[in-house]
Amino acid sequence: MKYNFDEVISRSSSDSIKWDQIPFGEVLPMWIADMDFKSAPAILTALQKRVDHGIFGYTEIPEAFYDAITRWWERRYGFTVEKQWLVPVSGVIPALSAAVQSLCKTGDKVIIQSPVYNHFHTSILNSGRIAIENNLIYNNGSYTIDFKDLAQKAADPKVKLLMISNPHNPVGRVWTKEELQTIGDICITYNVVVVSDEIHADLVFEGHIHTPFASLGEKYSLNCLTLSSPSKSFNLAGLQVGYFFTQNDQLRRAIQSSFKLMGIELLNLFGITALIAAYDQSEEWLDALKQYLYKNYLFLIEFTALYLPEIKVTPLQGTYLVWMDCTALGKTADELTHDLLEQQKLWINPGSMYGVSGEGFIRINIAAPRAVLQKGLERLLNGLS
Ligand SMILES: Cc1ncc(COP(=O)(O)O)c(C=O)c1O
Repeated sequence: MKYNFDEVISRSSSDSIKWDQIPFGEVLPMWIADMDFKSAPAILTALQKRVDHGIFGYTEIPEAFYDAITRWWERRYGFTVEKQWLVPVSGVIPALSAAVQSLCKTGDKVIIQSPVYNHFHTSILNSGRIAIENNLIYNNGSYTIDFKDLAQKAADPKVKLLMISNPHNPVGRVWTKEELQTIGDICITYNVVVVSDEIHADLVFEGHIHTPFASLGEKYSLNCLTLSSPSKSFNLAGLQVGYFFTQNDQLRRAIQSSFKLMGIELLNLFGITALIAAYDQSEEWLDALKQYLYKNYLFLIEFTALYLPEIKVTPLQGTYLVWMDCTALGKTADELTHDLLEQQKLWINPGSMYGVSGEGFIRINIAAPRAVLQKGLERLLNGLS
């Protein structure tokens, strides 16, 4: 194999949120969404070259940054993102918060589709807006959208935004074009802007296709905001780089002015360098990574089927975050994860942190060398059997 994803690299003393919060070696962390692999070689070379220059002054965002993003969306998703739609940001979370603050007033409501990425909740609550849950439907081990409930909730004039995770963290769904179109139609009918978080778009597995929400057509594109970043797919979360885009000038200006108000307009120069090298030179690495991740998923499936048949693994269409139904074990998600941490030194996420509908579930991050994943699964088995 050209890229060695099996290599186990110590992250000890690297100020990693995942690895360094608890004394190294005591706990195996498989929670927060970053990967235990080195980033792509072309990214490392580009960053090294930038370090060698030795001067790290105020940095303009070059045309190459915008070109790399537009070419990426064109090549990977067949979708043309116009350069003037794009706004660089230091991450998707700041863009989520800026969207809530600039597009909703205090007391306005934002719909989220629980169980969903916990920062959707916090970006709404921290801004003094109200989160309304349009719970996903869990049936026969997989998830769909409750469109009837969505339409009822969107009809409330206080509802201004719908945040979607496309693909969905944590349930691993890659929404189909038809599902997204139905969401879009409901939102247009009730004047609700769609915030489509597409940070996991590059991590969609064979047999599934990522549909950019904005690609559904102009009327949908004018009613949405797309947030993304190479940080999940190329393991760059510590470099704080991302972007949002919208065809709607009014929405874009409103959010931009909220960043301006806070004095946040520049980016970290290493983030800029890494994004360009990721999108322009690291496609082959990403495709190899996806194959490795999918094999990790198959390994997990086989392991659980053999040793933990009472746990139902939700089909993973995209992302490296596996959502496991442990309701048959009769414990709360907090009890499960607390016991696994205390007794087995395995750190994973309780499903309840993604909404009440995640109770009884756990989320496990499989973006690690297979030997590390195997160790994690063995601890899971010891803890749950
Ligand atoms: C759906 C989703 N959005 C956003 C983020 C974080 O984005 P950023 O690190 O760019 O702020 C994550 C991280 O796990 C995520 O899963």
